[in-house]
Amino acid sequence: MVKFAILGFGSRGQMFGSIIKDDNDAKLVAIADPVENNRERGKTAYGLTEEQCFKTADEFFKQGEICDAVFICSQDSQHYDMVIKAMHLGYDVCLEKPAAVTIEQCESIRDVANQLGRKVVLTHIMRYTPFYSCIKNLIATGALGDIVTINQTENIAYWHFALSYVRGPWRKMEDSTPTIIAKCCHDLDIFMWLMNKKCTAVSSFGKLFHFRPENAPEGSAYYCVDCSPEVREKCLYNSYKIYPERMKRGVVGGTARFIGRDIVEVIDNKEDVISKCAYHAGNNAIDNQVVNLCFEDGSTAHLTMTAFSDDCYRTVKIHGTKGEVYGNFDEGILYYTPFGQKTVKIDTNSKEYNSLGVNLSGGHGGGDTYLYYDFKNYIIGKSQSIARTTIDQSIESHVVGFKAEESRKNGGVLIKIGE
Ligand SMILES: NC(=O)c1ccc[n+]([C@@H]2O[C@H](COP(=O)([O-])OP(=O)(O)OC[C@H]3O[C@@H](n4cnc5c(N)ncnc54)[C@H](O)[C@@H]3O)[C@@H](O)[C@H]2O)c1
Repeated sequence: MVKFAILGFGSRGQMFGSIIKDDNDAKLVAIADPVENNRERGKTAYGLTEEQCFKTADEFFKQGEICDAVFICSQDSQHYDMVIKAMHLGYDVCLEKPAAVTIEQCESIRDVANQLGRKVVLTHIMRYTPFYSCIKNLIATGALGDIVTINQTENIAYWHFALSYVRGPWRKMEDSTPTIIAKCCHDLDIFMWLMNKKCTAVSSFGKLFHFRPENAPEGSAYYCVDCSPEVREKCLYNSYKIYPERMKRGVVGGTARFIGRDIVEVIDNKEDVISKCAYHAGNNAIDNQVVNLCFEDGSTAHLTMTAFSDDCYRTVKIHGTKGEVYGNFDEGILYYTPFGQKTVKIDTNSKEYNSLGVNLSGGHGGGDTYLYYDFKNYIIGKSQSIARTTIDQSIESHVVGFKAEESRKNGGVLIKIGE
């Protein structure tokens, strides 16, 4: 029986809690979270006792080493302190992405993990999905030849961007991480993992294009409660509509804080940033950015991140010297064309690719569950998935992301990496 603790029992923490609950060979033995509602959930939904529910990670750490490994699911800026303390106490760690908020902190996590011999897995869940694992396997067989370029688009969705990056925990980059890290460290990780080469240079353009005061609808107020019904009716980001509607379909990143609260009351009372106009929310997260990467052999990759899509989905196209493959991650379908031959349609939702029979419509296309089982196998020394890499490799994509942000801030200047 593998025993886990979860530090930060919000949206992601509770998601991992549910996966552990469904695993007969594992047990959740402690959680830490300052929010009483979340600790109550630990007791009522996960069978924990009062003594197993700590108010903070530090209170949990005071107990010494009381389980096999910890999940760190607190907010971005809290990761560094928690992961360093956990590793020094002897814990292996499943660490939510982004690993930390600066390159220096990321590199320090990597170095401490190596010095102490701790197993640290970042939640780069995209690579664990049947969709991306299938692409990785296709590349590994040589079916595509040498990979020359990858083109990926991260369509965040206008409503998701507003919930998480205009009025959510990632709205101010200085309090969390640059958007290209917060949202796209997955995409950059996919590039690094599929290419399996060193990235030597990066350049990036982008800005906060839309969610700015000058784009506020005519006649709008600073708070939704003060807008006229006519203005509200026309506004895509009317809080009274967007929050209840979206949360009915499931909790989207950064909205877990409203579970058990009356959203209308929160907005009426101007209690939270969600009550503010989406054009006056004090946000600076980038809503449109492109990144170009150059690898050691001259191969390339390009990422487009945009808030402006109707739904959230990723599309990817990979060009090799012998073939190409493209697909829509959310559909789980790939189209593979060996040059000069017919296109083959690959359905990665099928049992052949989804060996655990995971529900692929939630949990990041099955990535959360596949990552969990691979992490557990890692700490008990069992088989390794194709997705697992060392902490050194996992941190590389974060470095690329921070360098991309440096480029963006400097007007797209070329930044060399590793010099
Ligand atoms: N892997 C992914 O695809 C993915 C997706 C979404 C979010 N994330 C990352 O996961 C992390 C958590 O995101 P979330 O959406 O669950 O946020 P959340 O706000 O719902 O959860 C964070 C929890 O940490 C708790 N917390 C605060 N201080 C604490 C302390 N001192 N000790 C213990 N707990 C404390 C908060 O009360 C909160 O419940 C973030 O870093 C986020 O970037 C990753």
